[in-house]
Amino acid sequence: MKTVTGLLAALLALGVSGNAARADAVPDAPKFDAQGKVTLVGVGDILEYKALASYNEPDFVKALEKAGKLPALKDRLPKEPMVYKTGNMKDGVGVYGDVMRHVIGGRPEGWNYWAGQSQGWGGIDIGLQECLTRTGPLFQVKAEELQPLPNLAKAWEWSKDGHELTMHLIEGAKWSDGQPFSADDVMFYWEKNVLDTNVHPLNGATPDTFGKGTKLDKIDANTIKWTFAAAFPTSALYEMAYGKFCPGPMHILAPQHPANSKNTYDQYKNAFPGTYMAMPTMGAWAVVDHKPDNIVVLRRNPYYWKVDEKGNQLPYLNEMHYRLSTWADRDVQAVAGSGDFSNLEQAENYVESLKKAADPASPARLEFGQRTIGYTLDFNYSANGWGETDERSVAVHKLNRDLNFRKAVTMMLDRQRLGESLVKGPFTTIYPGGLYAGTSFYDKASTVYYPFNVDAAKKALEAAGLKDTDGDGFVNFAGGKNVEITLLVNADYQSDKSLAEGVVAMGEKVGLRVIPKIISGKDHDAARDAGKYDWMVQRQGTEVITAVQNTDHLAPVGPNTTDFHKAGTDGKVDMMDFEAKLTDVVAKFMAASDPKERIDLMKQYQKMATENVYQAGLTVYPGALIVNKRFSNIAPGAPIFMYNWAEDNIIRERVFVAADKQSKNELFPNTLPGKPGSAPGEGLVK
Ligand code: GLA
Ligand code: CA
Repeated sequence: MKTVTGLLAALLALGVSGNAARADAVPDAPKFDAQGKVTLVGVGDILEYKALASYNEPDFVKALEKAGKLPALKDRLPKEPMVYKTGNMKDGVGVYGDVMRHVIGGRPEGWNYWAGQSQGWGGIDIGLQECLTRTGPLFQVKAEELQPLPNLAKAWEWSKDGHELTMHLIEGAKWSDGQPFSADDVMFYWEKNVLDTNVHPLNGATPDTFGKGTKLDKIDANTIKWTFAAAFPTSALYEMAYGKFCPGPMHILAPQHPANSKNTYDQYKNAFPGTYMAMPTMGAWAVVDHKPDNIVVLRRNPYYWKVDEKGNQLPYLNEMHYRLSTWADRDVQAVAGSGDFSNLEQAENYVESLKKAADPASPARLEFGQRTIGYTLDFNYSANGWGETDERSVAVHKLNRDLNFRKAVTMMLDRQRLGESLVKGPFTTIYPGGLYAGTSFYDKASTVYYPFNVDAAKKALEAAGLKDTDGDGFVNFAGGKNVEITLLVNADYQSDKSLAEGVVAMGEKVGLRVIPKIISGKDHDAARDAGKYDWMVQRQGTEVITAVQNTDHLAPVGPNTTDFHKAGTDGKVDMMDFEAKLTDVVAKFMAASDPKERIDLMKQYQKMATENVYQAGLTVYPGALIVNKRFSNIAPGAPIFMYNWAEDNIIRERVFVAADKQSKNELFPNTLPGKPGSAPGEGLVK
């Protein structure tokens, strides 16, 4: 807590602004040293797969087993469960009981993740979906051993030529309803949800995610084989982690898929609404209750396939809550102690949260990480019919494709002020776009930065053919109306709204009329996915931190991989010249395995992306993890966002609460999830 107190004191003393230097090189970020320290380990130090002599479970589950309501534990576990090593658990082997109370701003749309339904974010889907590999915890893995952790795939080997990857799945594992998990689930996901491009899994897995021409075959019930066009494509293993390769329960999903039913694709997507409980999961907890706009409750999965070294079946926590509120309330409740967890990421809440957390009596600990929360202004580049196609939209998209115009936009942005509009102090720093400074593939020398300059921005607008011909202060199309630009903004986050407000005001200063479209939840996501905007303010994903995960978001390596430029009505992405080159570099990076080549390719990406203002960066700042002090086994220095969000990084299934600190907050004590399709709060096993 020392560091937090120190930071707070410095902030209060200054009331300050950081770096005001202006240069063509990106200004260095202000010093910020309140970060937690990470202890680096090897993958084998974290986990292994093996059968143990005996297993254990909570007493109430033993009682249900005795009453004949559940098969014996050893028959519920796979042949070789995943075993978390005690040495990597900060507080060691845990005890059973208690709840983690999350608060989220999202709302579950339904449970068909594989057909693109949002489950409300904030860690719900991260916990429900288990994937072939896992990357969240990699923040603590040594560089020389860095590769995704095994998960549903417990081991894999490459063919000599590197084109084939054989993966061994956990054997004898079961879904939370007791049905067997096998290679068939994996194949159903791939063939009927990824390769069938009428289905759009959440988080955007597409056939191109794993490289063009990738094939997947079932070898036997527990073995699958990938065939890649490239040799040893490093990115592929990362893309098999959350959220792109997390198979669903075929026994429940397949009957509703249009291939096996009279359902339309829309009906398939909506076949498991928010009221459908106990959707089978491979995750540690299954959904048992959902009161709209109030709460989602999950109970432990009695078939979970992970244990500790003493043979205790995980998770330790019996229940998970997700209060359906707002993201800002998540911060407030976590520091107040009425919630247990928050990714402090809305910079507007920093000073208040720091003040509360600095009090030794505070119920929560707060720890900052690196600067990995950043925003861009994205341009809709489609000139072939993706998104809106009225005259005005078409004309604006055309402007977006003009480098003079994008230079005007980037130079109109006073990024120092944008950052300070969120929070004063050493948090925010100027972000030109591309990879974030301080991340492993970042290269400052390859980063082109066009500093804030109103006059230069105005000149660039002129060069793009825009002048205020009717003297009302806003530039017009040659011989026509004022240019009007729609800006898509996510209403659920204050930071998104503050940044958008700044962009609108800064546009006005150079004569650009920007009209915000502030939309909430799934409607926002639908507008984004359909390209219904000219510009959009958006929080960036893991791709600009790690480069190896969600790499396919960086450029349109496939028709449907990049948020801001998808295929038009002809099924093709109408790339600009530099964009085609950029895409080629990104595809090469995804396929490459030589470390030197990969570093060089990312330098090329950085240069082209920033020089051409592919996405105009806005600001980037560190987030802080807030967790209630009663929880044990929270790894020091766990970032709120790196390979994944903290809900994955902290490995919640092995987090526990010591016996003397346990709360009495379980809403459904001594029960287990009921049958798939049960009504909310009903049908639980007890
Ligand atoms: C939302 C929140 C993040 C994180 C993710 C997890 O996006 O803003 O902090 O909780 O959900 O998916
Ligand atoms: Ca005008």
